[in-house]
Order: sequence, then structure tokens, then C-alpha cells
Amino acid sequence: MKQTILVTGGAGYIGSHTCVELLAAGHEVVVLDNLSNSRRSALDRIARIAGCGLGFPLPVAVDPRPTASGVEPVGRSFSAPSPVAVNPRPTASGVEPVGDSFSAPTPVAVNPRPTTSGVEPVGRSFSAPSPVAVNPRPTSGIESNPESGLHFVEADVRDAGALDALFAAHRIDAVIHFAGLKSVGESVQQPLRYYDNNVGGTLALLAAMRRANVHRIVFSSSATVYAGDGQPPFREDSALGPANPYGRTKLMIEQILTDLAASAPEWKVVLLRYFNPAGAHESGILGEDPKGIPNNLMPCVSQVAVGRLAQLEVFGNDYPTPDGTGVRDYIHVVDLAVGHVAALGAIEQLPAVSTLNLGTGRGVSVLELVKAFERACGRPVPYRIAPRRPGDAAVNYSDPAEAARRLGWRATRDLDAMCRDAWRWQQWQAQHAAEL
Ligand code: NAD
Ligand code: WQD
Repeated sequence: MKQTILVTGGAGYIGSHTCVELLAAGHEVVVLDNLSNSRRSALDRIARIAGCGLGFPLPVAVDPRPTASGVEPVGRSFSAPSPVAVNPRPTASGVEPVGDSFSAPTPVAVNPRPTTSGVEPVGRSFSAPSPVAVNPRPTSGIESNPESGLHFVEADVRDAGALDALFAAHRIDAVIHFAGLKSVGESVQQPLRYYDNNVGGTLALLAAMRRANVHRIVFSSSATVYAGDGQPPFREDSALGPANPYGRTKLMIEQILTDLAASAPEWKVVLLRYFNPAGAHESGILGEDPKGIPNNLMPCVSQVAVGRLAQLEVFGNDYPTPDGTGVRDYIHVVDLAVGHVAALGAIEQLPAVSTLNLGTGRGVSVLELVKAFERACGRPVPYRIAPRRPGDAAVNYSDPAEAARRLGWRATRDLDAMCRDAWRWQQWQAQHAAEL
């Protein structure tokens, strides 16, 4: 059934891929993002993958109303897209893997919004875009591209006025709440900022949802809520004990949502605990876009491969693991995105609160990932062994059985696909820096 989904943080890494899958499943998507860790052009690229090549390229009439939080008013024009080859046919995930032609994109026919009927849409060329109707509700602060089913509000999730305007303009069926800060190290340095943004943002969102009579929420939690000294594989009932402020914001929000659901029967809450998201969209035009020097392994490897970083530092090779390096459960970001669509599809049948791991259940070492990346990019990834990173566990991977049982979902994309797609995205970024 077609629904209208509010995606907070929908311009970010996981949110943007989830928007693609929601649109492919036939839903209407309203993104709210303050762009603190993402780019406006991501909206355009989501729309292009979803089959509307025009994305958000045109200057739009907007509401210049300043927001309570001081966030800049919405409505700057989106950057004009250049022709990019994208999905010619929908698949289960809504997108068909593409060939290596993405390193040298040419205009091709693309998929205009896959339908749920299974009828294959006819592709169109984006080489000569024609004007489209945009932003039919200029007073709401919402920029719209009706053809793609994608709408965008540039605002902070703590901004009650912006949320109320959004809920007044769109009849939202459910919310997927990605908006949050996510750097473990930064959270140790700036705990108040993390509690304010992550916990405060969630409280503001929940209050606005209640005012608008919206009671369905899927929340981005993290494997970081599990106790670091626990024994993998981690199950949803494994011991909890986050080791840093970031992780504690996630656990606090899980508890807030659980208390809320216990207080009133109309709420349905799904807490998704992600393991290590990696990879990018198969098209190569959407992926992780970390600001500054990345912390996570896959973007570091990718930047070494493309020459932006000289070499990778492997944090420790003396762990009790097969090759001595840390083991993690890397999950393709598109699998993760599909997991959110599955959670929404199942939410009415689920209990008031469901906690589900999204992982593959397979542990991969740092050196295994480096080797896979070298296969994908066809060049060496220089590295040196460095001291262990403080706070790192030796091994961390999921038991994903509960998500399979409850949602009928499991990860299907392997490490090679993650590396191939991350590499494709890295190359696209290098070639299209001006468009980002
Ligand atoms: P991201 O930084 O790419 O995306 C987060 C998005 O939220 C960004 O677009 C950012 O601009 C936006 N945002 C942040 N604060 C906001 C605010 N106050 N108001 C409006 N927008 C705001 O991160 P991601 O990797 O896509 O992560 C998405 C969610 O998943 C986060 O909540 C994160 O904690 C969680 N998570 C991420 C990982 C991971 O390794 N990437 C793992 C587990 C959980
Ligand atoms: C993976 C492995 C490192 C970088 C973090 C957060 C967690 C979650 C996911 C949000 C480890 C090694 C890394 C490098 C390396 N995020 N490594 N050299 O630490 O498992 O999880 O991201 O919720 O909360 O803590 O991910 O990608 O940083 O590290 O050797 O330059 O790669 O030691 O073994 P991590 P990661």
C-alpha cells in the first residue's frame, strides 16, 4: 500500500539509500534534513535514481520564513544535474546493478519510478530535461518534485515549527528517524551537543508526531548499544552497555521510545540496530560522503585506493582473530535500506516495540576487507600496521535471525558487492566533485 513516509536525515548516507528504496516501493517520501552532514545534491541524485532525472534542478518559489532554530530558510535551487546512467529496470530492491560504464557516464534511459504492479516503466532520456512543476506548497517550506514522489524540507529536527508545518502539509503515515550525529570520538569531546541533537531531536520529533497523530516510527539504533565485552554473535537480548556518549544517546532513545509505546497503545516502534554499514548505491552516484578525514574503515580504504589518503592504518594485528585484525559485520547500505522498507511493511503486524539487528551475521577482518577492495579496484591499497585504536573490540558481529523471522528480510549483497559499489562511488565523486 502506498504511504507517505517522513525520513529525517534523509539526505545522509543511510537515509538517502532508504529514500531510493522507498520510492522504488511506490511510497511518497518527505525528507527533513538540516544538511549538517550531507549535501543538497543528494536529493537530486535520489530523484535521478528513482527515475526522475530532473530531480530538484530548478529554482523554486519558497517560503523565506526563518525557522525557530535559526536554520537557513529552504529553497535554494538544486544544482543542475548532468546526465548520469542509472537504473534501466527495477529489481526486488528497485534498482538493477549497473555495469562499469559508470566510470564514464553517458546519457541513457532510466527508470521512471518503478511501480508495484511489476509493470516495467518506459525509460526516458535525461539529456534534455524539460521544466517540471515544483513546490506546489511554497508557504510550507517544502520543496517538491511531484514526479519523483520526493519532497524536501531543509530544517532541524529540533525545530517544532518546521515539523508542525511539515505534518500540516503532508499526511504522514510513518517516520523513519535517521537524523543524528554519529561520530563516537566527537561524542566524547562534545557530549552535550550529542545529547542535544540526538536525544533532544528525537523528543522534538515525537512531540510533533503526537500533535499530528502520527504513531509509527522506525529508529536508527546501533550495534554500539551492546556491551563491548559481550560475546558475539550479538542477539537483541545480549547485554547492553554502550561505552561512549554517542552509544548512550542511542540507548536512551531506545528507552524513550519503549516508554512512549508503553504509555499509549496507538504507538508502534521499530528499533533497528545496524552493524557496520558499507558500500554505496549500485549506480555509483550515491554513497557515503564523510566530511573531513573519515573514521570508518571502508571510506578510509576507498580514499587510499583513489589516492586521497597515502595509506591505511590498520589498528592492531594482535587481536585473537584469524589474521590478528579486528572483525566486524559489514552490511551493504542497500540491504540496510531494504530492511527499513521491510520494517515499514511489517509494522502493523509487529508488537508495540520491536528491536531488530540488521547485519549479515558474518564477521570480516580488516585485512580481508582490504583484499576484497583491492580485487574491486584492481590496484593495491597500501597499509601499515598501527597500534590498536582505544575502545575497539576484537570481534563484533550480529545474529540477524530475528529480523529474518519478523521481517522476512536478510542481507543478500556480499563483501565484493560492497567494495565494488564503494569504489564506483569513489570514482564518481572524483570525476564530479563540482556537482557535489
Ligand atoms: P549521516 O551523517 O550520513 O546522516 C545523518 C543525517 O542527519 C545527515 O544528513 C545530517 O545532515 C542529518 N542531521 C543530523 N542532525 C540533524 C538535525 N538535528 N536535524 C536535521 N537533520 C539532521 O549518517 P548515517 O551514517 O546515514 O547515519 C544515519 C543514522 O544511522 C544516524 O542516526 C546514525 O547514528 C545511525 N547509525 C549509523 C551507523 C553508521 O555506521 N553509519 C551505524 C549505526 C547507526
Ligand atoms: C571497523 C574496523 C577498526 C579505521 C563504528 C562505531 C559504531 C557504528 C559503526 C554508528 C575496526 C578498523 C578502522 C581505520 C582500521 N557507527 N579500522 N583502520 O568501530 O566497528 O564501529 O562505526 O553507530 O557505533 O563505533 O567501525 O569502521 O571505525 O572500524 O584498522 O582507519 O576497522 O579498528 O576493527 P567500528 P570502523
